Order: sequence, then structure tokens, then C-alpha cells
Amino acid sequence: MRTVMVLIVAAAAAFGIAGFVANGAGSQRSDSVPQYTVQNQLVRPQNYREWIYLSSGLGMAYSPNPNSAPLFTNVFVAPEAYRKFVATGTWPEKTMFVLEERAASSKGSINQGGHFQGELRGIAASVKDSSRFPSKWAYFNFGLDAKTASPNPPESCWNCHNAHGAVDNTFVQFYPTLKPIAMKFGTYKPKE
Ligand code: HEC
Repeated sequence: MRTVMVLIVAAAAAFGIAGFVANGAGSQRSDSVPQYTVQNQLVRPQNYREWIYLSSGLGMAYSPNPNSAPLFTNVFVAPEAYRKFVATGTWPEKTMFVLEERAASSKGSINQGGHFQGELRGIAASVKDSSRFPSKWAYFNFGLDAKTASPNPPESCWNCHNAHGAVDNTFVQFYPTLKPIAMKFGTYKPKE
């Protein structure tokens, strides 16, 4: 009986370790720093939902007459970069963000008012990687299911982020837990 118990425990431990290794190899740490293909494309971050959640916009629009249906935009940042920001008020090299777009639904279940989040509409990402991009930050669109994406031209993304982001190309003015940190470290530059 005792031998059987020992065997069961040993088998469970072995499976546990095997599971950990398999999981660790494909995602976890390696996924929260940018990975590129040989053609300089960014690999879609798979586990961004396990990163740090910063905030959600609802129907945010950057032109006076937006004509598309409002979406939720959920912003996530890789945990290592987040911890550096909390300690210094700045983003380290290899910082990676994901902006996740989801439909804003209002009819469903018991809901009588307001909006809740629905299906995925696409993800975008940004990375700070000066060794690879002379403009330091680069921006990518993955849509619903692209596995890799090329950097977008500056006029589509970078220009607006650089002109209006309150801290180093990022929109910390819209991330309520980060804004006071940046102000404390003096890295917050009020922008229009
Ligand atoms: C006209 C201005 C503007 C343009 C152009 C723009 N963005 Fe943004 N972006 C924003 C704003 C505002 C936020 C904050 C969103 C929120 O709070 O939900 C944001 C947030 C982000 C974030 C989260 C990290 C951060 O920098 O704060 C990513 C990633 C991102 N955008 C990617 C892109 C990509 C990719 C493109 C080009 C396809 C793009 N953006 C074009 C205004 C812009």
C-alpha cells in the first residue's frame, strides 16, 4: 500500500513538472518581451490576458465624427515593464503593450442599461525597442487572428502617440493608476 502511494505521488510530481515545462516553453516569460520573425514582424502575444490591465476606453474617438459603432479598448502591459514603471515612472526597453478591441453590447441576459463587453474585434500592439526601431516605439495591427504583423508607417500610429501621449509615446493620461506615478517621478508631460 505504502509503495503504491509513493508511486502515485511520484507520478503526480512528474506530470506536474512536465506540465509546467510545457507551459513555460510556449508562453509565460518569453511572451512578455517582443519576439520577431526574420522579416522583422512582431509575433502575436498570446497570453496578454495574463498581463497587467491598465484601463478600458469606451467608444473613444480621435476625430469629430466617428462613424463606426463604439468599441471597448482594453489596455494591457507586460508585467516586467509595469513593475519598472511603478518603480521609475518610465518604460524600459522591450516594453510591450496590447490594445484589445471588443464590441460594446447592451442587450443580453438581465441587462437593462449600460454596456458590457462582447466579441473580440482585433488586437493592436506597441513595443519600445530602440535597438530595432530608430523611432524607438513601433506599432502593429493583428486584427482578429494574424499570427505576425509588420510595423505600421509612422503616420498611422506613431505620430499621434508621439504628439499626444503624456509619457514617452503612451497615453498615461488615460490610465488612472499610472498617472499619479508618472506625476510623482516628474515624467508626466501634460499634452492636449
Ligand atoms: C489619433 C491618435 C491615435 C492614433 C492615430 C493611434 N492611437 Fe493608439 N492610442 C490612442 C489613445 C488615445 C490611446 C489610449 C486608449 C485607451 O485609453 O483606451 C491609445 C492606446 C494605444 C495602445 C496602448 C498603449 C499606449 O500607447 O497607451 C496601443 C498598443 C495602441 N494605441 C496602438 C495603436 C496602433 C497600432 C495604432 C495604429 C494603427 C494607433 N494606436 C494609432 C491614440 C491613437
